[in-house]
Parts: sequence; structure tokens; C-alpha cells
Amino acid sequence: MFARISARYDLLNHLLSVNIDKRWRRRVVEKLKPSVSHESRILDVACGTGDLSIALFENIGARVTGVDFCRPMLERAARKESGIAFVEGDALQLPFDNAVFDAVTIAFGLRNLSSVEQGLGELRRVLKANGRAAILEFSRPVVPGFRLLAAAYCTRVLPRIGGLISGSRSAYEYLPDSVSRFPDQEKLSAMMSETGFADVGFENLTGGVAALHTGRRA
Ligand SMILES: C[S@@+](CC[C@H](N)C(=O)[O-])C[C@H]1O[C@@H](n2cnc3c(N)ncnc32)[C@H](O)[C@@H]1O
Repeated sequence: MFARISARYDLLNHLLSVNIDKRWRRRVVEKLKPSVSHESRILDVACGTGDLSIALFENIGARVTGVDFCRPMLERAARKESGIAFVEGDALQLPFDNAVFDAVTIAFGLRNLSSVEQGLGELRRVLKANGRAAILEFSRPVVPGFRLLAAAYCTRVLPRIGGLISGSRSAYEYLPDSVSRFPDQEKLSAMMSETGFADVGFENLTGGVAALHTGRRA
């Protein structure tokens, strides 16, 4: 699915979110910045076309690795920034040793995994002790009226425009579908704690349309 839409992925991200996606990724960088340095190793899981990896690389100057299992997405990422190692691999079985990264991120990736629990377990496994995890994902808008509006946008507008521009309407029908099945803020926080993350917390972005979850490997 991601291979099919890779050519139009960035354009549609920015268009459909009216560029708010850039602000959300910048927030991930801001949140991680105090706990990492230019010497840190950061892994961006399900990096796709690399926008978060690049934001981390440019703003922190850290050694960034991006991993994704979709080669056409990775090829686009590599064309944008040569200073980052983009690696082909499965988020459910990351091709890295235990405890090697100072921080891990995953943006709009966890929702796509066949097992969220296993994905969280892998994020934890590759982190050093006290290493930070930042998970950016669509979530549940907190204001009821706004929730209805966001749902209508996602189910009616988004598949039409997404389908028209990418040529794959089903990919943009899958999006609201997968968001509705994904754990909300509280549930995902509980899952992170169960996986063995400490200092688990989240902040809502754009009224909870997305949420930034953070935790530390205890
Ligand atoms: C919605 S895109 C997000 C890309 C990027 N992180 C961003 O913020 O734009 C989801 C990405 O997850 C990747 N993905 C889904 N399942 C995966 C898995 N099991 N292992 C690695 N990557 C996966 C897809 O290939 C796709 O590039």
C-alpha cells in the first residue's frame, strides 16, 4: 500500500493536514531535545519518506538511522538527505542489537503494525537504559463536536482527495479505519507502561487529532 502511494505521500500529507503535520513532527524534536545531544544515536522507526528523521538530524545534529520495510518510501527519504542511514527492516523485528539507541521515535507508524504490543516491545528492546521513546500518532479528539468534525473530514473528504491525487482511494480509506481501531491516549499510555516504559505521558496535538506519547526505558 505504501509503495503504491509513495510518489504522492509527502504532497498529500502536507495538503490534507494543511501543513499541520510539519508542526507535529517539530514538536517531537522539541520534546526529545533536552534528553539527547549531537552524539546521541536516534532511531526513527517506520520512517517512510524520512521527514521526522530529517527534522531530528537537522535540529539535533544527532546520528540518525531511519528504518522502514517499504523500499520505495526509503528511496525517497535517501534522496532528500544523505547524512542519515536509511535501512530496510521490519518494525516488528528490528535489525538492531539490544540497547543501542539513546532515543527512538515512530511517527504514524505504530498504528500500521499488525501487533502494537510487539512494536512497543521492539522500541523498548533497542533503547539503552533511560533512553527516550517518542510516539506520534493519530488519536482521539478531546472535544466531542470537534471529534465529529474530524471524523467527517477523515471519512468523507480525505479518501476523495487522497484517492484522486495518489490513485489509491483504498489507502486513504484505510487511514480513518486504522485510526478508529487504534488505542486512544489513555489506552496507549497503559500499553507503554505494561511494556516497561517509565515516566509515561502524552500531550494532545490539535485538540487530540494526534497525540505525542513519551516514555523512558526504565
Ligand atoms: C503513515 S507512514 C509514516 C511515515 C513517516 N514516519 C511520517 O511521519 O511521514 C507509515 C510507514 O510505516 C511503514 N511500516 C508499516 N509497517 C511497518 C513495519 N512492520 N515495519 C517497518 N515499517 C513499517 C510504512 O512502510 C510507511 O512508510
